Amino acid sequence: MKEKLHACVIGAGLMGHGIAQVFAQAGHKVTICDPDAAILEVAPQRVAHNLEQMGISPGAVLANIFLTQDLKSAAADADIVIEAIPERLELKQKLFAEIAEYAPEHAILASNTSVIPITSIGELLSDDARARLVGTHWWNPPHLVPLVEVVRTEYTSEAVFESTFQLLLSLGKSPVKVYRDVPGFIGNRLQHAMWREAISLVAQGVCDAETVDTVVKQSFGMRLPFLGPMENADLVGLTLAKQVHQVIFPDLCNDTQPNRLLDQLLEHGHEGMRSGQGLRAWTQEQADEVRKQLALRLIDSVKHPAS
Ligand code: NAI
Repeated sequence: MKEKLHACVIGAGLMGHGIAQVFAQAGHKVTICDPDAAILEVAPQRVAHNLEQMGISPGAVLANIFLTQDLKSAAADADIVIEAIPERLELKQKLFAEIAEYAPEHAILASNTSVIPITSIGELLSDDARARLVGTHWWNPPHLVPLVEVVRTEYTSEAVFESTFQLLLSLGKSPVKVYRDVPGFIGNRLQHAMWREAISLVAQGVCDAETVDTVVKQSFGMRLPFLGPMENADLVGLTLAKQVHQVIFPDLCNDTQPNRLLDQLLEHGHEGMRSGQGLRAWTQEQADEVRKQLALRLIDSVKHPAS
């Protein structure tokens, strides 16, 4: 792969601007494309704010970032195109059909979808383009969270799968390979298995939402950076793991639809921090403080990684 790449990031929102930042920080040229002029315009300011929070002077990084509303010119000489537009299948399918038309024949085509199978996103593509389509699932905030899940479909070529993985390594990320294109990949399946149970505990009146957060943060959440679930199972021993599962598995939530509690909250406009009420109540100051503390703590753990 070339030393200096041209990366094209489609979507300048929460994820797109941060993904672009990572490429620009590594010295690559990045074009960010978004049809919304207002969102596009503030992307460099958001990148500058992130960098300043990290104690990095933004000048050299911002010099690598270019903005456009025009997809055709954005993709025209891209080595990799990363899509970070809203989580709607038909939008992504249509976008990739256009990207495949505009991008060079060697370009890697990557989607940052959270949970949609990459195979479905590539349904409108030719065999050649499908072989270059791969999932790159970054985590918010992408400039700070190290993991990127690299997802292959049955059509993804080995060369694209491997070179995407190597590229992310070279950017300083911690990529992992996901060999089967299952909805939600690895991280979101694990995360939402826990959210399903957490919301169910609140809906059943076992505890309130704040208590769920306290339990996680004051117990196994503290260990997670140092002890993954597989390590933990081996640490306590598989005999105990099996005994625990025999007792609690029959009682765990196994709903196949979102909990009714979410509908009830949403019907009242309780969207979360944005509206001041979700599973918990939020003032603007509290919401801002959560976001600020999250960024500062993540910056600290990037500086002092657990392993
Ligand atoms: P966002 O809403 O902040 O940004 C999406 C951007 O895409 C907007 O600026 C919008 O103007 C733009 N857009 C819409 N249609 C477009 C089109 N046809 N062409 C180009 N740009 C278009 O969304 P966010 O949170 O950045 O999410 C983007 C993707 O990343 C979604 O698939 C999401 O599921 C995924 N993701 C989100 C994470 C999160 O924590 N928010 C984490 C990991 C993945």
